[in-house]
Amino acid sequence: MQRRCVQACRQYWRSLLASAARRPTRSTLQQQKQQQRQGKSLAHMRPAQLTALVQCRQSSSSSSDSSDSSTPSSPSSTSSSSSSSSKSLHAFPETGRHVLDLLDGFRRSQTLFSAVSLGVFDFVEAEQPAAEDVANGLGLSLDGATRLLDACCGLGLLRKQGHLFENTDVARAHLLSSSPHSFVGYVRHSKDVLYPLWGQINTAVEQGRNVWQEAFGASPQEVFANMYADSKSLERFLAGMHSMGSLSSPKVVDAFDLSRCRVALDVAGGTGHLAMALCHRYPHAVACVADLPDVLPVTTRYIADANLSARITTTEVDMFETIPSTVSSPTHPATAGSIEESTTLGGAHDGNAKQQQQEEEEEEEEEEEEEEEEQQQQQGEGKQVDLIMLSRILHDWDDGRCMRILRNCHTALPSKGKVLLAEMLLRDDTHRGPVAAQLQSLNMLVQTHGRERSCREYTTLLHDAGFTDVQCKRTGVYLDAIIATKP
Ligand SMILES: C[S@@+](CC[C@H](N)C(=O)[O-])C[C@H]1O[C@@H](n2cnc3c(N)ncnc32)[C@H](O)[C@@H]1O
Repeated sequence: MQRRCVQACRQYWRSLLASAARRPTRSTLQQQKQQQRQGKSLAHMRPAQLTALVQCRQSSSSSSDSSDSSTPSSPSSTSSSSSSSSKSLHAFPETGRHVLDLLDGFRRSQTLFSAVSLGVFDFVEAEQPAAEDVANGLGLSLDGATRLLDACCGLGLLRKQGHLFENTDVARAHLLSSSPHSFVGYVRHSKDVLYPLWGQINTAVEQGRNVWQEAFGASPQEVFANMYADSKSLERFLAGMHSMGSLSSPKVVDAFDLSRCRVALDVAGGTGHLAMALCHRYPHAVACVADLPDVLPVTTRYIADANLSARITTTEVDMFETIPSTVSSPTHPATAGSIEESTTLGGAHDGNAKQQQQEEEEEEEEEEEEEEEEQQQQQGEGKQVDLIMLSRILHDWDDGRCMRILRNCHTALPSKGKVLLAEMLLRDDTHRGPVAAQLQSLNMLVQTHGRERSCREYTTLLHDAGFTDVQCKRTGVYLDAIIATKP
């Protein structure tokens, strides 16, 4: 199979090179002739060779884990069968179709952006309307509305029953303002902020910096001041962060055993979805979300909406200056519980005698810590933080600023305290995928001072900041998890 594959590829490239060598000038007419000749020479390939070529593409894309590979694959390329020669002849232009799929990507995004920002999905949910109703209800032209609705059907976001439209499950789950996991904020942020920034990507790539100046005439240094230019932008950004984050945070807190952590600080925590996920997973834990002053009223509202005001507080912080080592936390009954209770609640692991002994020692330490904590509280001090969480923070900053944040975390934590990062992990070896992380790294280039990193790169940063025992775990969702301990 591999030999046939190589032969087919060789034949294909030989025919292309032969055609290119014959190219007399660059005029349009001659280029067209050139294309015809290429098509002809490809058509001259034997069916078996074409089949092998298509199989070659398919096996190279399917042999690698799609979530972990930089090999592109288009939906159509994975679905076509190449068992018969007629099918393979039909399937051959897959190579071109893949490029067209990429080229078309922005049309898909813009269709989604337009339908969300015009309020199509909310309207359809309420009415189950015909195109005329949508046009009248949203003040659109009938022709434009019809094309937009049809395109949404093609993209799997709407369904047509007779001449009436209804939302698909995907739209219901993520594209209504009221969806529990609504992406509406993220769509709006992508439309209004990210799309114009990506429009300047050449400058970003040429100069290796963000393009706030070029896209918006805004300061490239003040990324968050730009994001928070007015309360609408701030809400839109945080809603966007919440939608994606709240889907992955449960997996992030599940990635490692955090049952011994009792007081968590979610630094630059935004809406606090990671703190919420931790509190859901570990009923004995309490948390505090630290962020810039403008963000905190929004944070407080999200925490209240999640019914967690009794367990999660908020505090103002500039993480480049200092990170608090203690936090005031509401008195939550479960925090008074023993470690025995907390490990049970947190899902203690079965273990052998050695492990049991270790657990007993840790229990003793925990009791001492509890006593210390009680004393601190009696003296009016806050609770000692033993877990600092940073979700999508380090990827916003260059290595120098990451070091400042991590060193401040190190100073704030007691011995054995932990730092938990939620980030997209690039593969260690030359950043080969996953493609989502590669694209996110470009996204960071156009809008921040940061980048995506691999486990090895996070390990280096964490070691340099004084942490040990670094572990990385892919979660299978949007964000991966990295944990390290202060010795
Ligand atoms: C990419 S968002 C991540 C938010 C949240 N951790 C999440 O995963 O959804 C970056 C966060 O950093 C916060 N931030 C920016 N500069 C900060 C600073 N100097 N001190 C504290 N927080 C800061 C922003 O307000 C924002 O909430």
